[in-house]
Amino acid sequence: MKFNCRFMIYAISTALVLTSSAGLMFDIHLIETPRNSTKQERHCKDLGYDGLAVISTPETFLYALKLTEYSRNVLDQGAYIGAHYRPDVGLTMWDDDTIPTTDAPFANRPPKADPTTPYGRLHEGGHIIMADGVRKRYALCGYYKSSASESSGETLDGQLQTTMKTILSVSKVFSYMECAVLCGMVIECRAAELNSDLLTCTVIGDYTSSGYTANAKVKTYVRHNF
Ligand SMILES: *[C@@H]1O[C@H](CO)[C@@H](O)[C@H](O)[C@H]1NC(C)=O
Repeated sequence: MKFNCRFMIYAISTALVLTSSAGLMFDIHLIETPRNSTKQERHCKDLGYDGLAVISTPETFLYALKLTEYSRNVLDQGAYIGAHYRPDVGLTMWDDDTIPTTDAPFANRPPKADPTTPYGRLHEGGHIIMADGVRKRYALCGYYKSSASESSGETLDGQLQTTMKTILSVSKVFSYMECAVLCGMVIECRAAELNSDLLTCTVIGDYTSSGYTANAKVKTYVRHNF
């Protein structure tokens, strides 16, 4: 009985994620004509995209990896993406004006902030590097607004044990689904815990896990990671 119930919730949330995957969230387009970085950005805008793709969440990043699997592995082609060094703040940021999360898969963490390599690129090897943008390469185009609306993850009937964790928010909710959806709305969210007694949802950012303990009152949504 208990198992069925858990499975059902998981099935519903998976269905939601699958439905939305086909929609806004993964509206990323691979440009297979090599151009330099500025020309690719221009080209994305000409096609009606906001610009180069912002791949700031684990889900979008994994999707970008899949989309470029052939070009990276077989053609040895990386792709320009929507991350730039911003001289005004001295930081590398996503083009939707968000700051990369601490676990974002840049070759350097935090990402290199160097005026001579201001252009972000998904490297053939599957990580993000900052480059001079001069060479002609493929690119990923996308929209900025939709990058942080959904997530995919797994359900634990219990509580994460952590040696370190960042609590991003605690709020009242009515259901586990609502708690999982809350997590998907926050770029930094990596897990969310529903306490079904108190009906509170704790949205968790960076954490270091040391396992989990079964707890009938706590259900945890563990977001898929980078
Ligand atoms: C790309 O090429 C154009 C002209 O061909 C040039 O104006 C622009 O600076 C180049 N961008 C980069 C990043 O090299």
